[in-house]
Amino acid sequence: MPAVATRELSEKVGVEVLDVDAERLTADPDLPHICHDLLERYGVVLFRELHATEAAQVEFGAKLGELAVFPQFPNKHVMEISFDPANPLAPYFPSNDYWHIDGCLDRMIAKTSVMSARVIAARGGETAFASTYVAYDELSEREKKELADIRVVHKMARVQRLSHPNPTPEQIAEWERRPARVHPLVWQHESGRRSLVFGATAAYIDGSDPANGRQLLDDLEHRATTPDRVYTHTWSVGDMVLWDNTGLVHRACEFDRSEPRRMARSTVLGSEPIA
Ligand code: OGA
Ligand code: MN
Repeated sequence: MPAVATRELSEKVGVEVLDVDAERLTADPDLPHICHDLLERYGVVLFRELHATEAAQVEFGAKLGELAVFPQFPNKHVMEISFDPANPLAPYFPSNDYWHIDGCLDRMIAKTSVMSARVIAARGGETAFASTYVAYDELSEREKKELADIRVVHKMARVQRLSHPNPTPEQIAEWERRPARVHPLVWQHESGRRSLVFGATAAYIDGSDPANGRQLLDDLEHRATTPDRVYTHTWSVGDMVLWDNTGLVHRACEFDRSEPRRMARSTVLGSEPIA
């Protein structure tokens, strides 16, 4: 299998592919499984200034697995992440600023995200990533035992309240319509690896005092996302980043939302439930 040249992006997470251009992205039949392997090992795979067209992103994404459909957008496999008032999902994107796993409220969480930068912020607007495999591996043996059977209730209201601290009754009613999900805190993947499942949707620990649970969840998130454990990607136009949504938390960094920032995201559906 012809390998690709790579460079690690930080100590714990992320790798850059150095010798793939937009043409090779769709032409090289080995690239999808090379990317699978890199995602498993590094969590984040960067193609710098690739300038893949939307069609090329979708063609490549579809080789990684079945793509999610976003009926709100002209290309149904490409969600625009932006605060453009015309963007139907814009009201939901402020919550991207908090550490999260995509789709924690869905029946099956997404496997991989593919995101390209179309228009970047003049300042800020980076995307930060931290490994939840590392988060688990760094627990003490005692903690691994203590956390083994904990289950966490994930709620839309929890994440939305972070960015809408004074919601209207209509907003609250809308959030509550989305059913909560209960996930184990420790995900035992089919591969045999374990990761932690926390982030902005994690509301409280199932069956325990909400305040105690909150402290534990905050502490785990804090420890997992200290600067030395994070890769923060500063975007250039045309960069394409893949991330393993099953073994990472990520978040968007602040920028001036009156200025345009447009990202094009395709999502590879998952096939493994959190268990
Ligand atoms: C996302 C997301 C972060 C960003 O698209 O799921 O969290 O930096 N995006 O836009
Ligand atoms: Mn996200």
